Amino acid sequence: MQERIIIEGGKPLYGRVRISGAKNAALVLIVASILADGETILDNVPHIRDVEVMLHILRELGVATKWNDDNSLSINPPAVMKTETPYELAKKLRASNLFLGAFLGRTGQALISLPGGCDIGSRPMDLHIKGVQSLGGVVEIEHGFISARMKKPQGSSVYLDFPSVGATENIMMLASKTPGVTTIENAAREPEIVDLSNFINTMGGKVRGAGTDLIKIEGVERLTARRYAIIPDRIEAGTYMVAAAITRGEVLVENIIPTHLHPIIAKLQETGVLIREHEKGLVVKGINRLRPIDIKTMPYPGFPTDMQSQMMALMAIAEGTSVIVENVFENRFQVVDEFTRMGAKIKVEGHTAIVEGVKTLCGARVKSPDLRAGAALILMALAARDETRIDHAVHIFRGYENIIEKIKGLGGNIKTE
Ligand code: EPZ
Repeated sequence: MQERIIIEGGKPLYGRVRISGAKNAALVLIVASILADGETILDNVPHIRDVEVMLHILRELGVATKWNDDNSLSINPPAVMKTETPYELAKKLRASNLFLGAFLGRTGQALISLPGGCDIGSRPMDLHIKGVQSLGGVVEIEHGFISARMKKPQGSSVYLDFPSVGATENIMMLASKTPGVTTIENAAREPEIVDLSNFINTMGGKVRGAGTDLIKIEGVERLTARRYAIIPDRIEAGTYMVAAAITRGEVLVENIIPTHLHPIIAKLQETGVLIREHEKGLVVKGINRLRPIDIKTMPYPGFPTDMQSQMMALMAIAEGTSVIVENVFENRFQVVDEFTRMGAKIKVEGHTAIVEGVKTLCGARVKSPDLRAGAALILMALAARDETRIDHAVHIFRGYENIIEKIKGLGGNIKTE
């Protein structure tokens, strides 16, 4: 198992990198495919550990899954399938909580292992449960499981106290097969929500308003399996844009949807990084004197929390002091201790990190506390003047397809052991 990544830093990255399909769209679309009868074929699904775990859960439920020769993914649910997520697998993947809406939409019952907390926060499901109950579901929580059954399923209006991505997705999946009209107020507006809406509508569903904070879903009797291509990964794209900036190189980031990247483009340009449109994507060119900036993470279209650690890495070498406020998760500064080992000067006060830029970073032995922090450590290591060894690299392979090959392709000195 590739457990450690070793990087010799100090070299600018040059060249072009192709962005893979979006992890956070692939995970929900793989689950949503069980709402339909027949074989779903998904294109542009990234080969990453989280997808492999999700497919393993599907196979445990009796669903046939297959990677085809053209690299598409086939998903074929049986006529009758289990509607319980196995604890051993569910605890590896928070997104297994998305089976709640899909199981209830397909069979009217669900037994979901409560996702364990993870490094970035407690990850509650109160808004998911509020949605299920609003649509006529009876929910009990016992022995670490959510047990739910649709007693009198009927479309209804649900107000989300926080625009939770997962809660919006679970309610959309359940409502797509629930008689009547459901409205989700203060819905999440992420591009992955729009991708799910387009996918459901491709299968014959009736979802309107995805991408805004008011989504209307009219339930239908049946959804029919179709072929569908997943959107590119805006967080992977942002990560490579920062890689170009932090190494002061020049990289063409290909296969992206620019509108999904606006918050990231805006903040990178504020630091002085040069970004220009190219027919195949965006060209990102690093500069020597990065300006410090302030960042507040917010639900989309605000600055994405999944890019917070990566931007903190960049600000670690800016010419001045930056202030980063994490408004989405309660504990997403774990990587600061590892950054400090590499020479960064960062002070954390609650949800705020004060980053005082330094001239150079040094290599060190560090460990990756979570997926995005791991990616940020790679960025720091690429900028540092000597060798860095990153333990627990398995976190990184959860969400970045071929990251070693992609960085090598840009001239980075990186390997695993
Ligand atoms: C999705 O997680 C993403 N994961 C996360 O990406 C992303 O960081 C997050 O959305 C925010 O954009 C997937 O799509 C698989 P939330 P999700 O529900 O749905 C609170 C990555 O690195 N909340 O929008 O779990 C919660 O505590 C991952 O790719 C409630 O209070 O996120 C958190 O503070 C990390 N009650 C906030 O909302 C609820 O019922 C955002 O959570 C649900 C959530």
